[in-house]
Amino acid sequence: MEADAIDRHAESRCTRRVERAHSGFVDPVTGRNRVAWEAASRKHVREYGELLEQARNGSALLASELDLLRPVLGTAPDVVHLQSGHGLDDIALVAAGARTVLGVDFSEVAATAAQRRADELGVACRYVVAALPGAPLRDGCADLVYTGKGALIWLPDLRAWAEDVARLLRPEGYLFVHEAHPAVPLWTWDEDEPRIRPDRGYFARSHVNDTFPGGGAVEWQASLGEVITAVISAGLRVQHVAEYAEPFWRPDDVAAAAWRGQLPNSYSLLAQRL
Ligand SMILES: C[S@@+](CC[C@H](N)C(=O)[O-])C[C@H]1O[C@@H](n2cnc3c(N)ncnc32)[C@H](O)[C@@H]1O
Repeated sequence: MEADAIDRHAESRCTRRVERAHSGFVDPVTGRNRVAWEAASRKHVREYGELLEQARNGSALLASELDLLRPVLGTAPDVVHLQSGHGLDDIALVAAGARTVLGVDFSEVAATAAQRRADELGVACRYVVAALPGAPLRDGCADLVYTGKGALIWLPDLRAWAEDVARLLRPEGYLFVHEAHPAVPLWTWDEDEPRIRPDRGYFARSHVNDTFPGGGAVEWQASLGEVITAVISAGLRVQHVAEYAEPFWRPDDVAAAAWRGQLPNSYSLLAQRL
């Protein structure tokens, strides 16, 4: 990645191999979600060896992602992965052509495990610990901003997120999102037939997560229209939106009828900075 991608002011506060750039104030809900994610991310540490083997042997990127990203990855882009989590996608992005990946996540546990895995595999990934939006990275440091797979639901202000993305992108750089469909909070996990949860609404602002990572973490909701409009309002041109029946993640031992093909469970979006 560009040597100067990390903002110098933030870098001066870095104290470890994984750069820490805590941005000071986070709102109370984000603060509680961060605590929940630090606890949930310990799974990445417990399953370190298993995830290392997955990273070494397989591609975490879906076939549909690779299809859409192939032209961009063919240009050896510098990638910024917002909410990078366990970082398996980052190793796959480098394997598919990215020159570098810089991951940003507010979980120090997740970022440290991701850095250790990338270092062990000798892959060009670096991690910064910071709350988003407001990535402590330089303007125009990315050819591609990659995010999703359970990321946007943690952000209450998608307009601020989209503006941060636009700031990070070089002119003509791309944003790629592969994310849970905004309708997903409505589906029950009943196995006999798909049902809508009576306690949820597509147009609700938020709900409390009662599955993973648990602990009462608040998930924010935005309709597909709101996501797309946030991206357009930040000055990006939307090139592609697709909805899929397949969820990006299936918890072990659950075979919900809502995942059998009748309902939307994920979407992807590709946009370019003008
Ligand atoms: C479901 S994970 C998805 C991460 C990644 N796409 C993956 O597949 O591993 C969501 C990630 O978002 C991070 N996160 C949630 N809210 C955040 C925020 N406001 N700022 C930075 N990271 C955040 C969590 O720590 C977690 O690692």
